[in-house]
Amino acid sequence: MTVQVLVNGKPGHEISVFDRGLQYGDGLFETLKIVQGRALFWDRHMDRLERGCERLGLSSLPRNALWQEAEPLVQNLARGVLKLIVTRGEGERGYQPPQQAQGTRIWVVQAAPAYPPTNAQEGVRIRFCETRLGHNPRLAGIKHLNRLEQVLARAEWDDPEIAEGLMLDGQDNVIEGVMSNLFVVSRGHLLTPDLSQCGVAGVIREWVLETVAKLGMVCRECPVSQAMVNTAEELFLTNSLMGIWPVRQLEAHPLAVGPVTRRLQKALEEVYG
Ligand SMILES: Cc1ncc(COP(=O)(O)O)c(C=O)c1O
Repeated sequence: MTVQVLVNGKPGHEISVFDRGLQYGDGLFETLKIVQGRALFWDRHMDRLERGCERLGLSSLPRNALWQEAEPLVQNLARGVLKLIVTRGEGERGYQPPQQAQGTRIWVVQAAPAYPPTNAQEGVRIRFCETRLGHNPRLAGIKHLNRLEQVLARAEWDDPEIAEGLMLDGQDNVIEGVMSNLFVVSRGHLLTPDLSQCGVAGVIREWVLETVAKLGMVCRECPVSQAMVNTAEELFLTNSLMGIWPVRQLEAHPLAVGPVTRRLQKALEEVYG
């Protein structure tokens, strides 16, 4: 499919070289899954974008105005990816945010990634990354444009058999995957890493946290050690495009795809329709 791009509401691929998104990563993004013209979990993505705008002091259009712009791009699309990038816009030289910045808004519509269906069905092989996530509570949770830690981590392997890498912080806590959030079943308890210091608070992670409560289960957000991950009964990864992928092997350690993972996958399939 042809890639479609809108910059500030107009078709085109150009933005200013002085845009602060390019100069400093001064902005946010969201990546949404499109199924039959619908943007799945739209409101959760917009909630995270608004939280990010508040933290960074950015302005963005209200969500209904954003959808008015995006809908014509995706309404006839059976499957695809809709990405929104919001930056502070053009600035003078220097880090200081301009008083009267006109934000930049970029929509990109692309084909859905061709993940093998076995990733969700049978699980994936994953590894640990060397690159660590730095602590910064002011940036933790939001999906800002500074993604160099993920870029370095993803450059650590090119074996196509390895679907994802796990990232730790400087204190050896396991935080998340390079592009996904992590859930762990350890000694019968469902856990997910605490993201108060670093990591992206994923939309599917948030959905899992709410759904387990509805299913009468409990999921604790807490520090997760490498030992907990290495001895887990189940591991699974979440992200908007992947959905839920069970882990069938971490480094050399094989894992079975367990009942908690399967139950949540089934619940998510119902949402996806
Ligand atoms: C670093 C990182 N963590 C987690 C996620 C999962 O977020 P979501 O469930 O909102 O797709 C992503 C998604 O791209 C990510 O890049």
